[in-house]
Amino acid sequence: MPTLALDAATLEKLVSAAVAAPSIHNSQPWRFRFQPDTSTLEVRADRNRAVPAADPQGRALHISVGAAVLNLRVAARHLGWAPDVRLLPDPAEPDLLATVRLDTPATVSVPGIEKLYEAIWRRHSIRTPFTGEPVPAAVLDELATGARFEDAVLHLPDHEQTARLLHLTAEAERRNATDPAQRTESRSWIRTGAVPPYGIPAEALGPQDAAGRLPMRDFAAIRSTEHHAPALFEREPRIAVLTTEHDTPEDWLRAGLALEHVLLAATVHGVRASLLHQAMEWPYLRREARDPHRHPGYVQMLIRLGYGPEGAPTPRLAAGDVLEAGSA
Ligand SMILES: Cc1cc2nc3c(=O)[nH]c(=O)nc-3n(C[C@H](O)[C@H](O)[C@H](O)COP(=O)(O)O)c2cc1C
Repeated sequence: MPTLALDAATLEKLVSAAVAAPSIHNSQPWRFRFQPDTSTLEVRADRNRAVPAADPQGRALHISVGAAVLNLRVAARHLGWAPDVRLLPDPAEPDLLATVRLDTPATVSVPGIEKLYEAIWRRHSIRTPFTGEPVPAAVLDELATGARFEDAVLHLPDHEQTARLLHLTAEAERRNATDPAQRTESRSWIRTGAVPPYGIPAEALGPQDAAGRLPMRDFAAIRSTEHHAPALFEREPRIAVLTTEHDTPEDWLRAGLALEHVLLAATVHGVRASLLHQAMEWPYLRREARDPHRHPGYVQMLIRLGYGPEGAPTPRLAAGDVLEAGSA
C-alpha cells in the first residue's frame, strides 16, 4: 500500500520527479512551495532562469513548467493520491502557474501509471542519429492518445509536410545562428567543465546531419575542438507535431503536460525523442508551420521520434534548491 504521508521525504520525491522534466535549454524555470494548511504544492515560474531572446513571450517557459506539472501528477498518483491539478488558479498572480492539491487518496488505479512513473527517471533528450527503424503505428496511436488526454493534439505529418516543417526549422536554425542575441543566449546555456546544475552539458549535444536533412539545433556554444563530427541521420525522420486549439498561457501549459505525457509514453516503449523548437522561436515561421486546412490549431513543438541509444541524464537543481517552505 502506498503511504499518504506528506513528509519532507515525500515532498522531495515529488519535486525530484517534477524537476526531471525537460525544459528549454535545461533552464529549469520553476519554483515549488508547499502549503501545509491546504496540502497544496504551488508551482511558480522562476523568471531568473528565463531565456528572453529565444522565448520573449514565455511560451517555452510555460511548456517547460507544464511538463514538470505532468511529472508531479504522475508521481502523486504513483504515491497513492488523486491529485487535484489547477492551471493558472489565480488571475492576480500570473506567475503561479499551477497548484497540485494532495489531500485525497486515490480510490481507483490509473492504468499504466507505474510505467509512466518509471519513465520519468529514464527519459532523456537524444540528439544523436536514430536507426531509421519505423515507430509502429500502434505506439504512435498511444502517444497521440496521451496528447489528447491533456487537451492537445499530436499530428503525424506525411513525407511532404515533414519536409516542409524541416525546411522551416532549417530557416529558423539559420536565423538563430546569425542573430546575435539568440547566439549569445544559447551559447550561455552550454556547460563545459565544472558546471552549475542547469544548462546543457556539452556531452549531451549531438552532431549535425551530414546530409543536411535534419536541422538539429546547433547550440553554437562549444569550442570547435568539442564539436562532434557531422554524422548521417535517419533518412526518413518521424516528426510529430504537437498543437493546441488556442494559444494562451493555459494552452502553453497544457502543451507542456501533453509533451511530457507523449515523451514518457514513448520512453515506456523504448522510443527516443529529441525536440526541434527552433521554428517556434520566430513568429512568422511558427505561423507557417500551421496547417490550417488539415490540422487547425497552434503548433507548440516538433518532436522527433525513433530508436537509438538511451542517453545520459543532464544535471538538475536539487529538490531542496527549488522547494520553498510555505506559510503555515
Ligand atoms: C520548450 C522546450 C524547447 C526545447 N527545444 C529544444 C531544441 O530546440 N533542441 C534540442 O535539442 N532540445 C530542446 N529541448 C530539450 C531541452 O534541451 C532538454 O529538455 C534539457 O536540456 C534537459 O535535458 P533532458 O531532456 O535530457 O532531460 C527543449 C525543451 C523544451 C521543454
